[in-house]
Amino acid sequence: MSHMMTAIQIKEPGGPDVLQPVDWPVPVPGHGQIVIRVAWAGVNRPDALQRAGLYAPPPSASPLPGLEASGTVAAVGPGVTRWREGDQVCALLPGGGYAEYVVTHGDHALPVPAGLSLREAACLPETCFTVWSNVFLRGGLKAGERFLVHGGSSGIGTTAIQMARAMGARVFTTAGSDEKCEACMALGAERAINYREEDFVAALRAEGGANLILDMVGGSYLPRNVRALADDGRLVQIAFLTGPKVELNFAEVMTRRLTITGSTLRPQGDLAKAAYARDLETHVWPLIERGALRPVMDSEYALADAAKAHWRIESSGHIGKIVLRVEGG
Ligand SMILES: NC(=O)c1ccc[n+]([C@@H]2O[C@H](COP(=O)([O-])OP(=O)(O)OC[C@H]3O[C@@H](n4cnc5c(N)ncnc54)[C@H](OP(=O)(O)O)[C@@H]3O)[C@@H](O)[C@H]2O)c1
Repeated sequence: MSHMMTAIQIKEPGGPDVLQPVDWPVPVPGHGQIVIRVAWAGVNRPDALQRAGLYAPPPSASPLPGLEASGTVAAVGPGVTRWREGDQVCALLPGGGYAEYVVTHGDHALPVPAGLSLREAACLPETCFTVWSNVFLRGGLKAGERFLVHGGSSGIGTTAIQMARAMGARVFTTAGSDEKCEACMALGAERAINYREEDFVAALRAEGGANLILDMVGGSYLPRNVRALADDGRLVQIAFLTGPKVELNFAEVMTRRLTITGSTLRPQGDLAKAAYARDLETHVWPLIERGALRPVMDSEYALADAAKAHWRIESSGHIGKIVLRVEGG
């Protein structure tokens, strides 16, 4: 393994063109860590926020972007017993996925599910960890409940629709075009609402209200989500695409016994992420292996074209996941 590699750095905060190839030292695994020779790296909206200077990486993380990848274990640090050099894995990363090699905690890696390519497996970790921890652990979604996920065509949305459906929930979703709505229905949504043409609050209230909402839009959606919830409903906030500040009358939260909560994955501790990984291997990897959940692939770009991938994700024209081809890319 050479000491230097090609990576994509954020030259300065700004638009997609600040993503530029650079020579960078190959990481060395510390205690409990593995180094992965990256085959494919997933592209996520938080990468675009980091690039724009709106989402700082935790102090211990690589400053390079990239929160998930698939590939082959290239080096194993002390204390790692599960993985050996040559194992194929996909992994949640603290950062640094837009590179030929990346280091992560060994317990944040998972085997490539049977039947999936490395290209597809690269798209699993960030969305699966986020959806599992927010929809099922924090949000407590149960079979038979009405679940509303906004941004149904996003990486998060396409995963949440399939996972919730596979667990027996009734899935409702919103998206910004008829084409996106059709894609959401094909994934198992009972109803996909084109939010440019129809009011999701009225649609959900006609069904008795949502027992759980997963939202990344925020802003004016916050009071509307409260109205769309059934009594005792839960709202889990995972981002604020339109802003975090809004006026809200909490009387309704109290009188209808609503819960408003949320989380972000990246700053959570290694032990919490390792526990999510174990849960995913037990509860979600079998769904993938029997075909009930599959990443929806939008497009791929060579590592050197990471800027094009960011233009694509920021266009919101995509449906599902965007990946970077790293090995041989
Ligand atoms: N909390 C966490 O730990 C965590 C982890 C990962 C991701 N996230 C967040 O989850 C969200 C989805 O992530 P992703 O990577 O799946 O993103 P993505 O694929 O880029 O999807 C975002 C989608 O949201 C929809 N949208 C609705 N309102 C929007 C607005 N005002 N501005 C931009 N897009 C809007 C867009 O589709 P339409 O055409 O339907 O509008 C867009 O395709 C992001 O906000 C991300 O930051 C949070």
